[in-house]
Amino acid sequence: MPRTINGRPAAPPPPPRAAAWRALEEHQRRLAGVTLTDLFAGDAGRFERFSFNVADLLVDFSKHRLTGETLGLLLDLAQAAGVAETRDAMFAGEPVNSTEGRAVLHVALRNRSERPMHVDGVDVMPQVRDVLAHMQRFSASVRGGEWRGYAGDRITDVVNIGIGGSHLGPQMVVRALRPYADGPRLHLVSNVDGAAIHDTLAGLNPATTLFLVASKTFTTLETMTNAHTARRWLVADAGNEAAVTRHFAALSTNLEAVAAFGIDPGNVFAFWDWVGGRYSLWSAIGLSIALAVGFERFEELLAGAYAVDEHFRQTPLAHNVPVLMGLLNVWYGNFWDAETWAVLPYDESLTYLPAYLQQASMESNGKSVTREGQPVTWQTGPVVWGQPGTDGQHAFFQLLHQGTKLIPADFIVAAKPQHPLTEHHDILLANFLAQTEALMLGRSLEESGSAAKSFPGNRPTTSIVLPRLTPRALGSLVALYEHAIFTQGVVWDVNSFDQMGVELGKELAKKLVSEVQRGEPAAGAHDASTAGLLSAISAMRRNRE
Ligand code: F6P
Repeated sequence: MPRTINGRPAAPPPPPRAAAWRALEEHQRRLAGVTLTDLFAGDAGRFERFSFNVADLLVDFSKHRLTGETLGLLLDLAQAAGVAETRDAMFAGEPVNSTEGRAVLHVALRNRSERPMHVDGVDVMPQVRDVLAHMQRFSASVRGGEWRGYAGDRITDVVNIGIGGSHLGPQMVVRALRPYADGPRLHLVSNVDGAAIHDTLAGLNPATTLFLVASKTFTTLETMTNAHTARRWLVADAGNEAAVTRHFAALSTNLEAVAAFGIDPGNVFAFWDWVGGRYSLWSAIGLSIALAVGFERFEELLAGAYAVDEHFRQTPLAHNVPVLMGLLNVWYGNFWDAETWAVLPYDESLTYLPAYLQQASMESNGKSVTREGQPVTWQTGPVVWGQPGTDGQHAFFQLLHQGTKLIPADFIVAAKPQHPLTEHHDILLANFLAQTEALMLGRSLEESGSAAKSFPGNRPTTSIVLPRLTPRALGSLVALYEHAIFTQGVVWDVNSFDQMGVELGKELAKKLVSEVQRGEPAAGAHDASTAGLLSAISAMRRNRE
């Protein structure tokens, strides 16, 4: 364990977690000298014992530093932390987002059953179904060409303007499901850097472009700045404000702000404060997905997530795959000093999955106070990073294999490709298998003949295999991660559902805009570095060259 956490002496969490925590610390010391190879040598049934099926996914935990006893102790910790009770509270619509007093019910968005789901005693399912029906009608009409722009043209291009959870989900899913894309072309603009909207608009015709302003709050500076720029661009071309009705839709919880922006109420797709931004791709925020691949595919995505929700809700913790996955993260982060977690999809289509999971995990569990507001003295959320294999193999895998850091990694692959190039897929699969095997087995000094060529091995990995990257399988994969992240948050006793840590920077940026515009820092408003930088930048901007 590191010596300090945020400047405080590191220590295990207090009761009720303390006893299980101490037992895991002791168990880790006993296991520290045992390698993965030893574990496989001693157990012919290890793969069968530690690999699981959930929905259509195969999840193999056998290449981890764990035994039956490890799992038992991790499950004791989960029990002490109240994972099952908190999960049940989430599904029951209780305000598990404690700092904001909100329910956390994204699972209602993909509830494919007739089961009611309540928030404050009200069944939210009728509203959920109404919005889905609206999304279905709207997407069918745009995709079918009945929806026309201000000059009577069909919509050929859709621009999703949003950031964070209002961007990363659609970006990841639409890229993953590109083979299914048969609707208008989708573009996504998130960054307030003018290059993003400028370059996107440069290739578009206003008369055939539909903008989706995707923002839960409808106040996010980046999104509103981009949305106003897009609006001006459209109105300048159309010559009248009325065109906005045919070219703008809003996906938001803030219906008043949407109305003030001038978006036709018929083009507004609502969601609710019990949908967190990073859990919102299943909500109206998914409209861009429905437009790109069709509403039926969007429903398949929901169905895949629902299958994992049902597993998570009903399966005893000992066989509950997202719970086990979450506990493994705790195991390495808190008992083996791993600080990061790599996500390595062996799938070009999952290019944006690591970025998506960065927000899902780091915005959820990058916290330093408990749900009761006490500072933590144990590690919480890891740094999540990654990129598709095989590209990563030729960049950072060197460090994974021979570096000094322990980096547990998730390897994700589809058994069958989305394209007809079988030979490529054979090679991809061979690499997927080879890397986890090499990371585990390593190569001894005797075998390799030199220290530089030897590999320590014993590097833990999870393998996740999808039959094929379908909308359904993707939905299951994302829900698997969501619930693993949930489990970690409960064990660490943090509120995984707020994101107060993003506020300070936003506030300061708002204040700084006028100083940047004026070209000088307000007297006494900043530290010397910030004031110095602002002055230097302003001088550079004044320079004509
Ligand atoms: O700044 C963080 C955040 O609040 C995320 O949680 C959210 O996904 C993103 O900003 C975008 O927020 P909104 O959808 O309200 O524009």
